[in-house]
Amino acid sequence: MARKFFVGGNYKMNPATKSAADGLVKILNEAQVKGDVDIVVAPPALYLLPIRDALKTQHVQIAAQNCYVKDSGAFTGEISPAQLVDAGIPYVILGHSERRTIFHESSEFIAQKTRAALDKGLTIILCVGETLEEREAGKTTAVVQAQLEPVVKLLKESEWNKIVIAYEPVWAIGTGKVATSQQAQDTQAELRAWLGKAVSKKVADETRIIYGGSVTAASCRELASQPDVDGFLVGGASLKPEFVDICNAQA
Ligand code: G3P
Repeated sequence: MARKFFVGGNYKMNPATKSAADGLVKILNEAQVKGDVDIVVAPPALYLLPIRDALKTQHVQIAAQNCYVKDSGAFTGEISPAQLVDAGIPYVILGHSERRTIFHESSEFIAQKTRAALDKGLTIILCVGETLEEREAGKTTAVVQAQLEPVVKLLKESEWNKIVIAYEPVWAIGTGKVATSQQAQDTQAELRAWLGKAVSKKVADETRIIYGGSVTAASCRELASQPDVDGFLVGGASLKPEFVDICNAQA
């Protein structure tokens, strides 16, 4: 099953200045993108509209890093799915491990947000992943399945084409300790097999499962050669020119 390669750049709370953000857009606008790849960058909310307007390349779309579960109301500090769609933002990252650990978002809440985002037509980059302790305890598969189960309960089979699953082992995020290609392939293959049982073979075959966690230009090609690695969600390296090399990892 050929799944279109997908590379997301999660800027997190970076860069610190608009002028630096303009520099990242310049890199993207000048990028020589090779092969068939969906590229999505997720800047901080403050930069969403200026970057949306500054992107001149057809190769790159824009994503929010989070959204709330309601469309409007007294929810100080939040951004709604309806507001993202109204602003022409087609993607949103949900369930990032930093949302789960720092901001205490449960898998049930992330599933409700996924439902709300789908109801407005957003495409979701849905993050799952285990901690080092959970991996060392042999719980990786159980953890990522438990993170996805609430989402499975709320989605119809036909809606999974609006989901990109990002497997991001927490122990690899921001640490420089990228998962080995075998670790990523094994976990993502198990996740895909589970999806086939939990939803359907069609969904398992067609859903892109991407890897995130210390991906660099040096590590991306071997990872991309794995049959169940359909792309990447990139943090630190998305803030550097090497992000373009990662986007071209399959070319
Ligand atoms: O969402 C992607 C991010 O969690 C990975 O960060 O810096 O390890 O590539 P990094």
